[in-house]
Amino acid sequence: MSRGQYPATRMRRNRMKAFSRSMLAENRLSVDDLIWPLFVIEGEDRAEAVTAMPGVSRHSIDRLVGQAQEAVRLGIPAIAVFPSIDAALKDNDGTLAGDPDNLVCRTVRAVKAACPDLGVICDVALDPFTNNGHDGILRDGEIVNDATLEALCRQALCQADAGCDIIAPSDMMDGRVAAIRAALDEAGHENIQIMSYAAKYASGFYGPFREAVGAGSLAGGQGKATYQMNPANSDEAMHEISLDLAEGADIVIVKPGMPYLDILRRAKAEFGVPCVTYQVSGEYAMIMAASANGWLDEDRVMMESIMAFKRAGADAVLTYFAPRVASLLATVES
Ligand code: PBG
Repeated sequence: MSRGQYPATRMRRNRMKAFSRSMLAENRLSVDDLIWPLFVIEGEDRAEAVTAMPGVSRHSIDRLVGQAQEAVRLGIPAIAVFPSIDAALKDNDGTLAGDPDNLVCRTVRAVKAACPDLGVICDVALDPFTNNGHDGILRDGEIVNDATLEALCRQALCQADAGCDIIAPSDMMDGRVAAIRAALDEAGHENIQIMSYAAKYASGFYGPFREAVGAGSLAGGQGKATYQMNPANSDEAMHEISLDLAEGADIVIVKPGMPYLDILRRAKAEFGVPCVTYQVSGEYAMIMAASANGWLDEDRVMMESIMAFKRAGADAVLTYFAPRVASLLATVES
């Protein structure tokens, strides 16, 4: 298509008035796009601030239920639950992950009792429960794939039994979506969705999260690089996504968010499936730190960052800003 040129064409004409800018916006943020990640700890009426994530705390179950109710009040469709497990309860194999009475399962039951219609998403990965901080089972210096799959299926099943709506495997083991799908189906959970962290990178941006869940420094020198993806790769992400879809994933996640917008864009364009992105802890921390110094306008860059995900193709965004974005959207609308 040939397009006119200056002076017949003036791009600024459409931008001159507020009504026109708003009328012609190609993308719009909605509270329906938000997923709120929450951290849970043992105890009662307890809240502990996460140092590297100003404004974010770990809450005991009773308080987390309060946050779930806040999500409902704000119209946020779903929360994602992440536990911070007492060090004494962790072991090499992350055994507690498969215990139906662990902190995550008790949280899900409490949230579902108080807010039955709120979507509840549970991470599947062993790292909150392993004493070495790895997402899988460590044997002789290697994260063993197939033995880990069995543990992940146990973990997914007890979370499903507790009442969660979406299982979100974030471990990056091979074959886990198929294994979890089969295990869920066999247990009669065929309607529980799988939202797979299909393209999850070995990223430095997860630093503050690891503080939040009390994951220690990782055993072994290569970090999570033998299972999470190399930040240099893009085609490999498409391969990962195609495998997870073939194995039965209903939704795919690209993670982290802002540094990987190109991956999100490709994923949406090439597969046309529901795509979610995760604005991770380090992205949140950067915006908060720069704003605290007066170097960035916090609300403005917060909204801009979420809009960038929408523009790139995200159907929903996991973000620690969820309640603030929701409140801001509500004030703009009213
Ligand atoms: C664990 C998990 C991680 C995050 C979500 N699930 C950390 C990791 O893989 O080391 C990161 C989230 C964030 O940084 O906000 N499998």
